[in-house]
Amino acid sequence: MTGADSIVLSLAVPLATVIAILLVSTIIYGKKKGGEGDSKLPPGDKGWPIVGSTFSLFKPHPATTLGDFLQLQLSRYGKIFSTRYLGKTLVISADPEFNRFVLQNELRLFQNDLPPHFKKILGAGNLPFMAGETYRNTKSLILGFFNSWQIHSRFLAEVEEAVKRVMTSWRQKSLILANEELSKFFFNLAVERAIGMTPDDPEVEELRKAFISANDGLYTVPLSLPFTPYTKALKAKDFIFSIVKREVEDRKLNSDKMDEEENDLIWYYLKNNPSMSVKSICDAVIGFIFAALFNTQISVALAMYFLGQCPESLQQLREEFKQKMNYTHTKAKLTWDDYKNMDFCQSVINETLRFGNIVPGLWRKTLSDINFKGYTITKGTTIMTHIEAMHLDPLAFENPNIFDPWRWLAIKKSNNWMPFGGGVRHCSGSEIARMEIAVFLRHLVLNYDWDLVEHDHPIAFPLVTFPKGLPIRIYPVREKTPQTSL
Ligand code: HEM
Repeated sequence: MTGADSIVLSLAVPLATVIAILLVSTIIYGKKKGGEGDSKLPPGDKGWPIVGSTFSLFKPHPATTLGDFLQLQLSRYGKIFSTRYLGKTLVISADPEFNRFVLQNELRLFQNDLPPHFKKILGAGNLPFMAGETYRNTKSLILGFFNSWQIHSRFLAEVEEAVKRVMTSWRQKSLILANEELSKFFFNLAVERAIGMTPDDPEVEELRKAFISANDGLYTVPLSLPFTPYTKALKAKDFIFSIVKREVEDRKLNSDKMDEEENDLIWYYLKNNPSMSVKSICDAVIGFIFAALFNTQISVALAMYFLGQCPESLQQLREEFKQKMNYTHTKAKLTWDDYKNMDFCQSVINETLRFGNIVPGLWRKTLSDINFKGYTITKGTTIMTHIEAMHLDPLAFENPNIFDPWRWLAIKKSNNWMPFGGGVRHCSGSEIARMEIAVFLRHLVLNYDWDLVEHDHPIAFPLVTFPKGLPIRIYPVREKTPQTSL
């Protein structure tokens, strides 16, 4: 069974329940159209009573396209429109100016707006659920962990060593389910960095599966019935919490070793914020692993997919990797300068994040009435800043439905490009994620060619996934290019 099949099956019961609600509500209320009664709201189709446009909004579609619903609404109503989502008004914006305004005024005029069950799975002591001083302090603490010294000197070397190991293990394989391999690779990196557990620990794989179950529970209807994905997610969360708690308590008991061993996130929190409770550390560490896990993994899978479909870009990337290193010293380690000077690699990453649309949109709630371009969005309204719609806007990117890394050599940056969000909640791991993607691609591209074993395509479901797991065949390129790592 593929990943997508299992998601479809796991969603079946909750979706059936919601469909039943939809039918009953339709009979009672009839279908409501237009924006009567709230004339200053952006225009839009309110969809069906209670569920509104929920199903249309989350209908799976190729991640490299807008999907029918968004395409239609944007052409009918323009870049800001309103609809209804699970009984509430939802304003969707593809307008870069408005979206920047929303993200930059977080904590003042807007606040994060995630469904309540997210808090139960991720834990209340997690950045997305914090506001005010608590948020600012916790965010600056985590940014300290990622300060550039850490990324330059320690993380770059760690990632390179880990990628070399995985490339060596791929030598024994010819067929690979890339998504699964990447999931293990990036999970291992995140878990070692967060709680110090290494891949040879048998508990690590159990933990990875628990994180996947917990993550599946986020994007489902939160029904606490036996065997629903939500119930499984809560159980998985309890298991994750118990392991992390054990690690935190163990460190507390061994705090005399702090100076010599302080190299994971638990030690970092214990040293830099000794008053933090065990529960807060556990929540923060679990949140870090969630944030680090899926996005980087799927970015590399997407890059492999796009490069595989565009041989010229793969060739140019390989040439750049070869030129930027002195290949008489094939064992030489990648330096920060090498990484920063790989312009085409940076362009491939930008274009992958634009075209792959890993985070389709960010959810916020208005803290007061907001006036923008003649519209009034009342206090308490949910807004989705639609990143995907900005990334695929033909006015911002010529031929937006084509993977074209060369465009970034000309434009360098764009107001429509926001894969890491913006404002105070801008992704804390953006720099490290870019570095990890670059290092992985460098070793992959210099060592292997690959092609798809069977057709697969990234689908937004709502998170981006490859329904068949991206099955690829890999070939060493030893005869064509000097080896870097093996
Ligand atoms: C390509 C990979 C990644 C993408 C596309 C990505 C994207 C994002 C986005 C869009 C947000 C903003 C969420 C919001 O405004 O509601 C975010 C937040 C965050 N990301 Fe990332 N991320 C990536 C990798 C990472 C990694 C590797 C880490 C950690 C090692 C990380 C840690 C975080 C954290 C801690 C936040 C919360 C920031 C806050 O609420 O203030 N991310 N990420």
